[in-house]
Amino acid sequence: MIPLQRNVLLTPGPATTTDTVKWAQVVPDICPREEHFGNLMDEVSLELTKLVADPLEYATVLFCGSGTAAVEAIISSVTGPDDTLLIVNNGAYGKRMCEIAAAYGLQTVEFRSAPQLPLDMTSLEQCIRSSERPITKLAVVHHETTTGLLNDIEAIGRLCGNEIDMIVDAMSSFAAVPIRMKEMNIRYLAASSNKCLQSTAGISFAVADKSRLDSPPPRRASNYYLNLHAQYSYFLLHRQMRFTPPVQTMYALKQAIDELKREGMTERYARYVKCWDILIAGLNRLGLSFIGSEEGHSKMVTSIIEPDLPGYDFYELHDFLFSNGFTIYPGKIKELSTFRIANIGDISCKDIEELLTLLGHYFNRLHGRGVTNDD
Ligand SMILES: Cc1ncc(COP(=O)(O)O)c(C=O)c1O
Repeated sequence: MIPLQRNVLLTPGPATTTDTVKWAQVVPDICPREEHFGNLMDEVSLELTKLVADPLEYATVLFCGSGTAAVEAIISSVTGPDDTLLIVNNGAYGKRMCEIAAAYGLQTVEFRSAPQLPLDMTSLEQCIRSSERPITKLAVVHHETTTGLLNDIEAIGRLCGNEIDMIVDAMSSFAAVPIRMKEMNIRYLAASSNKCLQSTAGISFAVADKSRLDSPPPRRASNYYLNLHAQYSYFLLHRQMRFTPPVQTMYALKQAIDELKREGMTERYARYVKCWDILIAGLNRLGLSFIGSEEGHSKMVTSIIEPDLPGYDFYELHDFLFSNGFTIYPGKIKELSTFRIANIGDISCKDIEELLTLLGHYFNRLHGRGVTNDD
């Protein structure tokens, strides 16, 4: 295996992958309608389900597309004309779900909350109870990648009870933060291959309660490519995707799942948290602060307040870090100037220490004197 140049992506996905995952994509050409490939997809689906649920009761439906494809597939496939969908919006990805629902003309209620604060469960409950039309579906982002805030999906699941089907966008928590769909009362969950699963981009998927997948869809579908029920039943019947799957990406995902099983999900999350602790200690030394507090924080994505320093420029900082092998990300909060550093993917504490040294050099140059992490 030829080693590839290592770029450390401190972005909230696509995240840094191992060479073994990258090289797993180099396979002999195969027609994805062959039995071998059907078996591969079947195995990948089963393993993904097992990470969050019992495969006897839940199933994974694969799509070719980025993460938004799975979110859109769920929202547009399961919300019918008799439904009212409540969407929790406390960041860019909650807002995106509102935009998806609006594009399909769905009946929605938006529950807005400040991106930097934990959800007020009493207000959410009031919002559900006071809705003119009964809420039948509720969609929430588990880990708001905008800020690093973890929404308490367990408590929201309790609020949903039997009357409301909960949809969770678990894009950036899946495969790290523990999720048990049945115990948390989650009917549908969306995630993708390229975040904490540490694989390459191109596959998104929905994990869903089989009782819902096996029942007739709520109405004549208004979607086509992203139809959850059609994709599920076609695979059951043919062991093929309805449309061309991302063949090589599927092999990478299989390899990434094997590597996750070897590392262990608990151990993976613990590695991320250790990296975060080092990052936060270093940011504190540099006098940088972040949005939110430790409580309710995922410890995987940090939204850092841009310093008010003469000469500071995010893109210059980005380019300096990039030229040294590290990629960071702009912020996504409208009201506040922030940038983001994520610590997911195939990264180590040493990577974070190196990043902090580089940040120290950058800010040291700005200050024109000695505040560095080496102090
Ligand atoms: C919470 C969340 N939802 C959805 C997405 C999907 O984005 P994309 O379609 O770019 O993969 C992301 C990506 O960062 C995310 O963090």
